[in-house]
Amino acid sequence: MNAEINESAPSYATAKAFCYTSAFWMMVATFYGLLGATELVAPDLTGNLGHIVFGRVRPTHINLVLFGFVTPGLLAAAFYYIPRLLGTRLFSEKLGVFTAVAWNLALATAVITLAMGMTQGREYAELIWPIDVTVVAAFLLVFFNFIMTVRQREEKVLYVSVWYVLAGCILTACTYALGNVIWRPNSGALVGIPDAILLWFYGHNVFGLLLTPLSAGVAYYVIPRATRSPLYSHTLSLLGFWSLLVVYTHIGTHHLLQVPVPTWLKVVAIVDSIAMVIPVMAFLINIWYTAKGKLGEIHADIGAKFVFTGTIMYFFVSIQGSFMALPDVQRVTHFNNWVVAHAHIGVLGFAGMIALGGLYYTIPKITGRPLFSRFLADFQYWMILIGMVGFTIVLTIAGLIQGNAWLNGETVYRVLPEIHAYYVTRAGLGLMIFSSAVLGFYNVVRSFQTRSGGRP
Ligand code: HEM
Ligand code: HEM
Repeated sequence: MNAEINESAPSYATAKAFCYTSAFWMMVATFYGLLGATELVAPDLTGNLGHIVFGRVRPTHINLVLFGFVTPGLLAAAFYYIPRLLGTRLFSEKLGVFTAVAWNLALATAVITLAMGMTQGREYAELIWPIDVTVVAAFLLVFFNFIMTVRQREEKVLYVSVWYVLAGCILTACTYALGNVIWRPNSGALVGIPDAILLWFYGHNVFGLLLTPLSAGVAYYVIPRATRSPLYSHTLSLLGFWSLLVVYTHIGTHHLLQVPVPTWLKVVAIVDSIAMVIPVMAFLINIWYTAKGKLGEIHADIGAKFVFTGTIMYFFVSIQGSFMALPDVQRVTHFNNWVVAHAHIGVLGFAGMIALGGLYYTIPKITGRPLFSRFLADFQYWMILIGMVGFTIVLTIAGLIQGNAWLNGETVYRVLPEIHAYYVTRAGLGLMIFSSAVLGFYNVVRSFQTRSGGRP
């Protein structure tokens, strides 16, 4: 495949395709979240229809938020900024658009097969073998497109965002194949405890070696640009990058502290979960010092505002995560809604916010005109922020009730009525987040399609 070299302005067709992908699947994903939350409030409401029982809705929600909304949103920005950082064009827009189409087909097939009950039944690795193969191929194609762009670059220095994106794509292709035991198409699993260890090696790498580096890449691009400031420290960015790779790869077993895995492995996972403070703070100090004294500029740019808020959430979720890896803490927080709260701070508050920031920063650059509606984007920002913080409060309280009841040997049927009000509130907040996703999709579509100038 040859690079498309012509003199006209770049089309950014791939970035555009991934913007649409992210905004569309955010709607579908949050709808599934809302459906699941409603079923937890009123289990009989959907009449136990097979295609939408909770056990099928939940994995659909999770796979769609991870691979439909957040990852494509972060990639959309990368398909814009990587060529710019390298002083060249994307190696192949055709290949990029082809990848986006294959990606969407995989997502649509995932929704249908999960609804039909076709699952490999392992959390975060539910998808059946043909979809697994497509996902791995898609990550490899994205990596190939980026690495070939690096090869034809004009700019000698490889800025840290490029490092993060390249690492995120190639490592995910590898860990996805490993975690989904892709060499066993029928079961997609090993047997017993080794399977659990491998699964969670992969499971936490989805957050640590996919969402985190892609989000860091966007933040490292958007914040210096929006504030018109040089990055605070190149050395810190290197420290953050390498320590993330070294430390994160060892922490998956912190999901299995209540499981009979070897003690030495738990110790490694716990120690490295605490050591995560190194990559986290190296990244955050770097970004925050870059933005120091420039909060006005961040506030003025809706993309940067989403991204900066995402970095604050990264601080909270990571500090919380390090504590959750301590066995004494996890005795209360494991197996309940505390973890679901943590998951939404991380995947929505941190990576999702940065993905949306990437979209809203990138779209005006691609189209050459303002967003269709800055007001709608701002409105979406507040709906998500309020919804996400609300989730955190109600799910954390519900989790503490459940965790303490578990420790005290309380029976489940007595605990469920106690957390009912929190489930109802969560469903209400979820409706708000889902509505914001619909508004966001409308804003994205109109921003691309409105020909003459956008609205303020
Ligand atoms: C220093 C960083 C972090 C540490 C030490 C950490 C630690 C943990 C621990 C110990 C658990 C398991 C809790 C349990 O089952 O009892 C967990 C779950 C989880 N974490 Fe984190 N976390 C960190 C950052 C993040 C980030 C940045 C994200 C998202 C991008 C994230 C997403 C999740 C999710 C989705 C789960 C739920 C997994 C499940 O379905 O059981 N975490 N985390
Ligand atoms: C785009 C925004 C969202 C993201 C990134 C997201 C992410 C996630 C993740 C990672 C999990 C797995 C949690 C775990 O296993 O610990 C999860 C579960 C869940 N989410 Fe979301 N979510 C989002 C929006 C929503 C919305 C709007 C709702 C509606 C209320 C919702 C409801 C749920 C429910 C009910 C579960 C299952 C919890 C359980 O198993 O008890 N989510 N979500």
